[in-house]
This record gives sequence, structure tokens and C-alpha cells, in this order.
Amino acid sequence: MEVEKILSEFPKSKDYLLEILHEIQNKNPNSYIPPEVVQKVAKHLNIKKAQVYGVIGYYSMFSDKPRGKYVIRICASPVCSMMGAENLIEYLEKKLNVKVGETTPDELFTLETSECLGNCAAAPAMMVNLDMYGNLTPGMVDNILKQYSQNK
Ligand code: FES
Repeated sequence: MEVEKILSEFPKSKDYLLEILHEIQNKNPNSYIPPEVVQKVAKHLNIKKAQVYGVIGYYSMFSDKPRGKYVIRICASPVCSMMGAENLIEYLEKKLNVKVGETTPDELFTLETSECLGNCAAAPAMMVNLDMYGNLTPGMVDNILKQYSQNK
């Protein structure tokens, strides 16, 4: 990942911090923002590293720790919970043999929960990286995982 190249595509304004972090994380094979990159972003925008870490910590989609190639974020907000998300979280934990917050040993999947993904009409919902899925059932989850596993 060429951080300098990404940074050069954005104006040196902290208004672009979210976009920059998205771009950097999406291009990182381990879907995270490493410490040395935080330093470069802060320097580029002329802000403190703590401000960058503040944003990374505030938004659940960002991480400062290495994750799997595919980050599964299953919504744990009330509407999805009422529609069966709790059971799906347990199902995913068993299927992947990890707990929420963990990564599979082959580094393919990280399982996370999330606040509302804005897809309540299709609850229960989850995202895998930038792809949104809704009206989930265990069978659909199986198919989705299979698709990504074949795309290693
Ligand atoms: S509550 Fe799950 S997408 Fe809104």
C-alpha cells in the first residue's frame, strides 16, 4: 500500500480525514490502519496523532489492529437483534470457530458486531467489507461465506 500516493490524492485539510482513512484501510490487505500510517496522515493534515486515533476509535468500521481479508460486521442494534441477529452472531461464531472480535487462523475472516448499518428494513443485516447483506438466514450466511472463501 502506498500511503504517500493515497495522501497525494487528497487536499491537506482535516475535512478529508474520514475519506483518507477509508481509502487507506480499504487498500490495506489486513483492513486496518497501522501506527506508522497514522503518523503520516497526521503530518499530511497537520493535526495531532491523537486526533486521528480519536476518529479510528470512534467509528467501529475503522481498526488500528490487523484483521482478516474479509471483515464481517453484523449489526447488533435493536431492530436486527429483534429479527434474529443474536442467533446469527452465535451461528457465525460456531461456523468460523472464533468469537466476536477475533480473526480466523487463515486470516480470511474477522468477525465483528456493529451499530445500525442503516439497513434496518432488511434486518438482520451485515456487511462484509463494503458489501451489504440483508434479510439474513443461516443458509444465506453459509452461501455468503462460501463465496468469499472461494475468492481467497
Ligand atoms: S438495526 Fe440493524 S441495520 Fe439498522
